[in-house]
Amino acid sequence: METKLVKIEQMKDCLDEMKEAARLIREGEVVAFPTETVYGLGGNGLMESAVKKIYAAKGRPSDNPLILHVCDMEMAQSLVKEIPKPAKRAMEHFWPGPLTVILPRADHIPDCVTGGLSTVAIRMPAHPAALELIRQAQLPIAAPSANTSGRPSPTKAEHVFEDLHGKIPMILDGGAVKVGVESTIVDFTEPIPVILRPGRITKEELETVIGGEVQMNTSFKGIENGVPKAPGMKYKHYAPKARMVLVLGEDTTLVVEKINALVKSAHEDGKKVGVIATDETIHKYHADEVLSVGKRQKMETVIANLYDVLRQFDHKNVDIIYSEGFEGEPLSDAVMNRLVKAAGHEVIRI
Ligand code: TXA
Ligand code: MG
Repeated sequence: METKLVKIEQMKDCLDEMKEAARLIREGEVVAFPTETVYGLGGNGLMESAVKKIYAAKGRPSDNPLILHVCDMEMAQSLVKEIPKPAKRAMEHFWPGPLTVILPRADHIPDCVTGGLSTVAIRMPAHPAALELIRQAQLPIAAPSANTSGRPSPTKAEHVFEDLHGKIPMILDGGAVKVGVESTIVDFTEPIPVILRPGRITKEELETVIGGEVQMNTSFKGIENGVPKAPGMKYKHYAPKARMVLVLGEDTTLVVEKINALVKSAHEDGKKVGVIATDETIHKYHADEVLSVGKRQKMETVIANLYDVLRQFDHKNVDIIYSEGFEGEPLSDAVMNRLVKAAGHEVIRI
């Protein structure tokens, strides 16, 4: 299959392309499109055969449920049994935006979308192209991140092309995304809402808007003092091709020293070594390939660059990557959730 790469800059200049993408979706095909978080791989969320195509293109296990993307509140309402007050407040405040809500599902949603659960994940994305696509298709679009399962999520159309060309008919190219990590997922079916996946919207922001407590599902970090809490969770995800090791510590100077010592001993073993640094530390490393993930003092830049940096290392053919970690900074939950998985839970704490 040939994959058509369509540039969309101003929405008003590409209405024909948007119509074609919406037609493909209505006919049961899958199309990659930009959202503000990461690129999505979209298909008709109410058509079983379309949902199966999504799983097949990504190579994703079909028991891992998908998010339904909507363009207005009415569409969201049609997909659920009820919307509890805290959920309503959060949706009204953060939508369109990087928030996914888990709610009791309506009966007509196919089991293949929800993985057979009694709940469904719903999000209204903020990207104009995403909203226009849903509006034109006139149906909820099921969309996981548009990467091959296990690879870093795509933040540019090139990333989607790298993973999925030849497997899908169309990629809408809206340039680099704004946020850079996937939406914050909040389960509103619990008496106290639970964050299942941290993202750009933080626990504190949610609590302010809801006017009540929100819990963090702490198992996501999966480490305590450098040791995996649940060894069964040692799967890789968002992973670059090279082995990756995360170095955590309160004192950045000590972290830099430790990483340089690790680089030295890897060099002695004849390895080519990469380092994931920050703007503040990039000049301090003696490795073969050093990339900055952004400014530690400005964590939005770190979440925006994270996946791109992981993918860049795949083209640099390093044998091992050492990365700085983040703790205590704003948004460090969102960053560490991805970094720890990218490192396959290999963490050194100093
Ligand atoms: O920002 C995002 O959320 C992006 C863009 C494309 O919208 N989408 C995304 O989808 O990250 P995906 O499929 O890569 O991640 C969806 C996550 C999965 O971890 C899945 O297990 C979880 O949402 N999920 C979906 N339905 C769920 C449910 N009913 N209960 C709990 N978790 C659910
Ligand atoms: Mg994903």
